[in-house]
Amino acid sequence: MRLNTVIPNFEAQTTQGPIEFYKWQGNSWVVLFSHPADFTPVCTTELGRIAVHAPEFSKRNVKLLAHSCDALQDHVDWVNDIKSYCRDIPGDFPYPIISDHDRTLAVKLDMIDEENRKNPDFALTVRALYIISPDHRLRLSFLYPASTGRNVDEILRVIDSLQLVDRVPEIATPANWVPGDKVMILPTVPEEDLPKLFPGGVDKVTMPSGQVYVRTTTDY
Ligand code: BEZ
Repeated sequence: MRLNTVIPNFEAQTTQGPIEFYKWQGNSWVVLFSHPADFTPVCTTELGRIAVHAPEFSKRNVKLLAHSCDALQDHVDWVNDIKSYCRDIPGDFPYPIISDHDRTLAVKLDMIDEENRKNPDFALTVRALYIISPDHRLRLSFLYPASTGRNVDEILRVIDSLQLVDRVPEIATPANWVPGDKVMILPTVPEEDLPKLFPGGVDKVTMPSGQVYVRTTTDY
């Protein structure tokens, strides 16, 4: 699962009915995320926190799609637990959960770790999270072990970065960037193009090396 790989189309059973991935995705971005198993504590917090923040994903034209190898009925029963534990999920549970009981998708999408790869029939999936753009390309992935729950703010932050640089390809977002912070202008952008591209201004830093590769702006 290298970045920019085109995610293959697939069919799956979900808590919201069967889907064909490309048709279901439509013209949206997708966060497709696996977890090791239903009825486990860290997974309960992850699916719950992501459900609480579902409107933040919708606002960004992002659809959510969870995955594990448990049976569909387990997903349905577990959703009740998640809703009871995370009391601030508004209304119905907001996104489908894939039941990949025979692990076909887990293998295809590389969601099983190296040790368990030899034993795919029993393997738990890792916490893989794939951010997929509307052209079905894998734009960013997180791979977390079962012992570490993911951070919803970070998922939203990287979506903001990806969508921003699609809109303004001359920039990149620096460490710890959040929307509104200054961004970096790519070293490939010629000096003479700066006034037209960033009329609001550019700050330049001369480094001890004498090079001026740090050029920042908030005009984006
Ligand atoms: C959990 O979600 O708490 C969990 C699941 C599998 C292994 C370890 C922790």
